Amino acid sequence: MRDINQFSVTKSVKESFNTEPGSRFEKLLHGLIDHLHDFTREHNVTHEEWMTTLNFLYDCGQISTPERHEFILLSDVLGWSALVDMINTKGGATEGSNLGPFYLDDAPEKPLGGDLGDGREGATVLVHGKVTDTLHNPIAGATVDTWQADAAGTYPIQEQAQGQDKYDLRGKFTCDDAGRYYYTTVLPKPYTVPYDGPVGRLLRAGDRHAWRAAHLHYIVRGPGMSAITTEVFFENTEYLENDAVFGVRRSLIAKLQPVRDVAALGYALERTPDAMFEFDFVLAPEG
Ligand code: BEZ
Ligand code: FE
Repeated sequence: MRDINQFSVTKSVKESFNTEPGSRFEKLLHGLIDHLHDFTREHNVTHEEWMTTLNFLYDCGQISTPERHEFILLSDVLGWSALVDMINTKGGATEGSNLGPFYLDDAPEKPLGGDLGDGREGATVLVHGKVTDTLHNPIAGATVDTWQADAAGTYPIQEQAQGQDKYDLRGKFTCDDAGRYYYTTVLPKPYTVPYDGPVGRLLRAGDRHAWRAAHLHYIVRGPGMSAITTEVFFENTEYLENDAVFGVRRSLIAKLQPVRDVAALGYALERTPDAMFEFDFVLAPEG
């Protein structure tokens, strides 16, 4: 240790941890130390830069609450969340995308054909499609859990102080025997991720905006299948090319269509739609 230098320090730090040889923990910890030290040597990081970084992380902790996790937001704007989503998408399955901070695991169950909009302002859109396995077999009993912003780009959960119900604009649908799901809702608008904290400072320092392309969130589950967390976006809408959290994928963009012959689809709908789009979800087997 006495002869430690800027190169040997990396090995000394790794050896200071008594980890199980070959374990996942050891691999990740050693990898992290290697990359952190390499980065520091490569860029000759100064004391000032090192302290600015640590203070930035301190600020992220200070502004975080149970409702606001600034470190997740940091991961989102650095594309780290997107990268984890992408490398964990299973072959043949629908691509994963951002969970975001507004998911509630106890959303109300809604009947197929039900409406999530509850008479809110905005265009009513019919959302429909199938949930299948990777061989296109429908998954009867699959569940489609969805949540979204309204036509002003706000999640009701953000407006509870203004009297909104946090369970509005969300619901869990169970697919029919043909693996179909269908419901109506209001078309959401783009909104900004929170930018009044340290992550906002980082965005401004890099001349970046905080807007997300309009989207609907989904968690889709099926018996014996790996659940997917993803989002659906709309063709020809703003911020598809520069979504603040890198959530957009070509395969997740749906085309809004004028309403035609809904009766032929055989859906009993609570509300008459102004537009419609179809999106099929594909689940891969568990494991
Ligand atoms: C969202 O999609 O709801 C979201 C994602 C990242 C940060 C804030 C919101
Ligand atoms: Fe969202």
